[in-house]
Amino acid sequence: MNNHIITCKNLTFTYEDSNIVVDNLSFTVSNGDYLCIVGENGAGKSTLIKGLLHLKKPESGTIQYAPSLDPRDIGYLPQQTPVQKDFPASVREVVLSGCLNRLRLRPFFGSGEKKTALTNMERLGIANLQNRCYRELSGGQQQRVLLARALSASKKVLLLDEPTAGLDPAATQELYDLIAGINQELGITIIMVSHDIHASLKYARHILQLSHRQRFFGTAEDYRQSAAGQFFIRESEGEAGPDVIPEPERAANPRETQALKGGTDND
Ligand SMILES: Nc1ncnc2c1ncn2[C@@H]1O[C@H](COP(=O)(O)OP(=O)(O)OP(=O)(O)O)[C@@H](O)[C@H]1O
Ligand SMILES: [Mg+2]
Repeated sequence: MNNHIITCKNLTFTYEDSNIVVDNLSFTVSNGDYLCIVGENGAGKSTLIKGLLHLKKPESGTIQYAPSLDPRDIGYLPQQTPVQKDFPASVREVVLSGCLNRLRLRPFFGSGEKKTALTNMERLGIANLQNRCYRELSGGQQQRVLLARALSASKKVLLLDEPTAGLDPAATQELYDLIAGINQELGITIIMVSHDIHASLKYARHILQLSHRQRFFGTAEDYRQSAAGQFFIRESEGEAGPDVIPEPERAANPRETQALKGGTDND
């Protein structure tokens, strides 16, 4: 038995008024994994995240969830826009709204949801801010609130779209440590979009690099050695050569390659 909780095969996404945005992605996510999705602006990362959340339908290909994972129970921290940063609600209300998926047919939050929200605010060090207005917080505090909200939605999988965007180095480091704790101590699977390749290599177990097509999927170690990885690392440091973009490649690890071909029963 493999422990894949998400299996994507030949996924393609388009928008009505644009060409193919994401073309032919195939990758797997295992229970407890930490996957970073990297790629340049406009590469299709947020589109893929919306696809995984069923907010966007694939043009072709499949997303298969393990029977134990209901896609409605995935926690989501969306990529931030200035409008969202101005949201007029209290911290407590924002975090509690993560529990909406648990209400099903009930109209109000119960003691279970309130306890979950409080536990997550305490874990992220924001319980003392719970009556403050979200829009009055610093960027780092706002991202902790949104992480607590995502955590309130799921005990299994969090999708985090650029959670550290716009934060200073100290707030960035704190958020990465909190996310690592959620992964390691709570066993929650993390799928994170990031432009920070060094942090991705430090924290993630697997890397998916997109540039509309799949440039790489495999372990962080293999990515570091790969032509695609070395090029992207140099490019993010401003050292890449002019026009040489390596062809897409898959993991050197035969187990990863096997997983891409349809999975094995023993990994
Ligand atoms: N709602 C939409 N309608 C039409 N095109 C869209 C829509 N959303 C995104 N796109 C286009 O799809 C492409 C991929 O966008 P996407 O937001 O997925 O990229 P991204 O990798 O998340 O970029 P960034 O790093 O800047 O967040 C872009 O060319 C974008 O303009
Ligand atoms: Mg994006």
